[in-house]
Amino acid sequence: MNTVKTVRELRAAVARARSEGKRIALVPTMGNLHSGHTALVTKAAQRADFVVATIFVNPLQFGPNEDLATYPRTLAADQEKLLQAGCHLLFTPTVEEMYPHGMADQTIVRVPVVSEGLCGGSRPGHFDGVSTVVSKLFNMVQPDIAIFGQKDFQQLAVVSALVRDLNMPIQIIGEPTVRAADGLALSSRNGYLTEAERATAPALYRVITHIGEALHNGEQNHAQLLDDGKKALEAAGFRPDYLEIRQAVTLRPATPDDHDLVVLGAAFLGKTRLIDNLHLTKQ
Ligand code: PAF
Repeated sequence: MNTVKTVRELRAAVARARSEGKRIALVPTMGNLHSGHTALVTKAAQRADFVVATIFVNPLQFGPNEDLATYPRTLAADQEKLLQAGCHLLFTPTVEEMYPHGMADQTIVRVPVVSEGLCGGSRPGHFDGVSTVVSKLFNMVQPDIAIFGQKDFQQLAVVSALVRDLNMPIQIIGEPTVRAADGLALSSRNGYLTEAERATAPALYRVITHIGEALHNGEQNHAQLLDDGKKALEAAGFRPDYLEIRQAVTLRPATPDDHDLVVLGAAFLGKTRLIDNLHLTKQ
C-alpha cells in the first residue's frame, strides 16, 4: 500500500490503476480507524480492483467548540489496519493541500433538506463541510464506487443526494454499522468515554431498538414513543440531543402512513456526543 500526501501524486496513482482497466473504490475517513472502518475497506476490496482510502480530519466540518484539535490522530496504526484490510492507496493530505486558497473563501457545496435538522441542526455548517470535502475527494479520485458507514445515516443520505443532484457517476454504498458485543456502535469518539460512561453508552441503541420494535408492532403514536425514549435516555444518564422517527430516504418527519423509517438518536454522555440509528421497514 502506498501513502501519498499530494493531489498530484493521488491523481497519478489513480490514473495508473485506471489505465490498467481497474475499477476504483473510495473510502473517505478521518482516521483513528476501528473495525467499522476496516469493514468499509474490506467491502471496497470485494467490489473494486483498486481501493483508495483517505485520512483527513476536515476542519471545515467541525464547529468552533468541537473536538478538531483533540480528534485522535493515529496514522501508523491506521496504515497497518488499511493494509490488512486490502487498501491499495492511502491519501493523507495536509489542510493546506486540501484548501490551498484557505477555507474562508472556499466554494461550499450545500445539500438542502437532508442536511437540515438532526445533526445538521445541532452542528450548524457540519454537513456543508462534509459535502464540500467529499465533493473535492470525489473530483480528485473520480471513483466508480464510494463506501460510507450507515452509522452516520444522515451523512450517507447527504452524500447520496449530492451525487444524485450533481450527476456524479459514482455509486454510493452504505455499509451496516459495526457494533461492540454489548451493542454500542463503534466510533472514534467512544475513546473519549470514561469507564462508567462506556458502561452506560449501549443504552442509546437499546432505546432506539425499543422504539423500532414498537413501530414494527404497529404503535402509531410517534410523539409518545419519542417522549418515553428521551425519558429512558435521561434515566440512564444521557443528555438527549435529539430522538426522531423520520422517513428513511428524505429524512422528513415520518407519519404513521410511512413504511420506510429510520429512528435516529444523538445524546451526550458527559462531554461526548454519541449518535446511532435503526432503519426499519414497517408492514
Ligand atoms: O465520516 C467521516 O469520517 C467524515 O465525515 C468524512 C466522510 C470522511 C468526511 O470528512
